[in-house]
Amino acid sequence: MAHMFTLRGLKYKEILDIVELDIHEHRITCIVGESGSGKTTLLRLLNHLISCDEGEIWFQNTPLSKWDPVELRRKVMMLSQMPAIFEGTVRDNLLIGFKFCEKPPVEDGQLLDVLKIVRLPKDLSQDSNSLSGGEKQRLAMARVLLLGPQVFLLDEPSSALDEETTQFVMEQLVHHVKRLNKTMIMVTHSRAVVQAFAEHVVEIKKGKIVTREG
Ligand SMILES: Nc1ncnc2c1ncn2[C@@H]1O[C@H](COP(=O)(O)OP(=O)(O)O)[C@@H](O)[C@H]1O
Ligand SMILES: [Mg+2]
Repeated sequence: MAHMFTLRGLKYKEILDIVELDIHEHRITCIVGESGSGKTTLLRLLNHLISCDEGEIWFQNTPLSKWDPVELRRKVMMLSQMPAIFEGTVRDNLLIGFKFCEKPPVEDGQLLDVLKIVRLPKDLSQDSNSLSGGEKQRLAMARVLLLGPQVFLLDEPSSALDEETTQFVMEQLVHHVKRLNKTMIMVTHSRAVVQAFAEHVVEIKKGKIVTREG
């Protein structure tokens, strides 16, 4: 199977020290580890929001430094743990990514479909400020799904969701990712999520990879 990301001799501050890590395309990779171990930092490196001090990261066999940042972030999108929700309606928030990506916007029907995937049965005209934390997280997830990157980097996507919603939403997400031949790299604390969906588990401890499974 081809590598989506290849990491060699990577160092970032005193935070990460990764000798070797390969992340395969079309797989569901889960990153696990204690709080403060460097999981979010790793996702930020993969998205080239930050650059490593030593070593190299290749995305599809090209070093991240050679990628045009705009093109890279069209292909590799990160959903942060505390995603930004903008002033305006649910529809405004779903469409805002299209402005940034210079893609043509989509019809309401497609917006409603993506809200179903993340189990957010809201009116498109509802004020997004009235949503709960978990609902905002799902709205942001819907926004990323609509933009259809090749790689989804998800930082604890279910941290604000109850078990049952997590199971449903993750199932939908994984199904979507598989159907469209995408790649998902997700930080999670949920053993249930790892057990149900992980095809590759990467455990980080104090900035180092301690297990590579799958
Ligand atoms: N920009 C930064 N500058 C300095 N230290 C940071 C920075 N970002 C995160 N850290 C530190 O790096 C460590 C790893 O952080 P993080 O990647 O957020 O961990 P995790 O997501 O696994 O909880 C933590 O000790 C954190 O305080
Ligand atoms: Mg984190």
